[in-house]
Amino acid sequence: MPVDLRSFEQEARAAIEAAADGRALNDVRVRYLGRKGVLQELMGRIPALPLEERRGFGAAVNGLKKALEEAIETKGRAFEGQTDGRVLDVTLPGLRPLTGRRHPLMQVEQEICAIFGRLGLKVFRGPEVETEFNNFEALNIPLEHPSRDAFDTFYIKTPDKGRKLLLRSHTSPSQIRALKQCPPPMAVVVPGRVYRPDAVDASHSFMFHQVEGLAVDTDIRFSDLKGVLIAFAAEMFGAGTKLRFRPSFFPFTEPSAEVDVSCFICGAKGCSVCKQSGWLEILGCGMVHPHVLRSAGVDPRRWRGYAFGMGVERIAMLKYGIHDIRLFFENDLRLLEQF
Ligand code: PHE
Repeated sequence: MPVDLRSFEQEARAAIEAAADGRALNDVRVRYLGRKGVLQELMGRIPALPLEERRGFGAAVNGLKKALEEAIETKGRAFEGQTDGRVLDVTLPGLRPLTGRRHPLMQVEQEICAIFGRLGLKVFRGPEVETEFNNFEALNIPLEHPSRDAFDTFYIKTPDKGRKLLLRSHTSPSQIRALKQCPPPMAVVVPGRVYRPDAVDASHSFMFHQVEGLAVDTDIRFSDLKGVLIAFAAEMFGAGTKLRFRPSFFPFTEPSAEVDVSCFICGAKGCSVCKQSGWLEILGCGMVHPHVLRSAGVDPRRWRGYAFGMGVERIAMLKYGIHDIRLFFENDLRLLEQF
């Protein structure tokens, strides 16, 4: 009995064309190409054929099989990306997208700047790559001065030997830039990253953040500095926070002081964080040295100012009871998600 493969082919192609989605197409594939499908069945007829027809018939069925596979694959591409017969259940609860937020250090930096902003100090930003002149000489730190060791930093190779560049070791060089760009009377805070070749441990990092403060006017006094810092501490650490000014030395301020706040963790009674002293050191400050004003082209006979500098990590660690500075830089969500 001769078999008309062409009518099978027509029928199969019509079924493929008619398939409306991936599931229907798969049904067609199973019906024709499956293990119990039409083509298998046709193959099964071969032994019953006269010897001289077997070879030709087998080849024809194989050719048909290839043709249908191709047709199904081509058709299937049209359904790619469709739900493949699965029903979209719009009542399922959605997946909550991960929302980003500011890093705790940036939150604290912002809070510091906002407090001083309310006191009239505007945000000024200076570059992290500084000239050796701004980072040292302009700030009255001469080449051989021992205090330079404490600030020494990463140098950057430049083709121009006369103009040495480095990663700033404190935000104080921005004092020079701020004074040149905003002639006095002026008052700014400068937040940003600083770099020091310190070995990393629980309280040191080769990179950390500072906020610098600078105000220059004709009649600025040490009492202005005290008033601004007392107001800052009350907002940052709570009303009733006391300040202690200890005489100190910085080449770019005279007189200079280091400032402690009364320990807000134990209420100044003495605990492990304040090492039983009741005080926590938070910043350095003083009256701007005439050399600094002169370096920036400001006449020290007419103008005077105060300056201060604080470490953002230190303040954040105290405020949130974080004992290891490295936690800020490890990007561990278990810490970051708490802020
Ligand atoms: N630049 C100093 C430091 O990094 C801090 C400071 C700033 C001190 C301004 C006095 C005035 O330690």
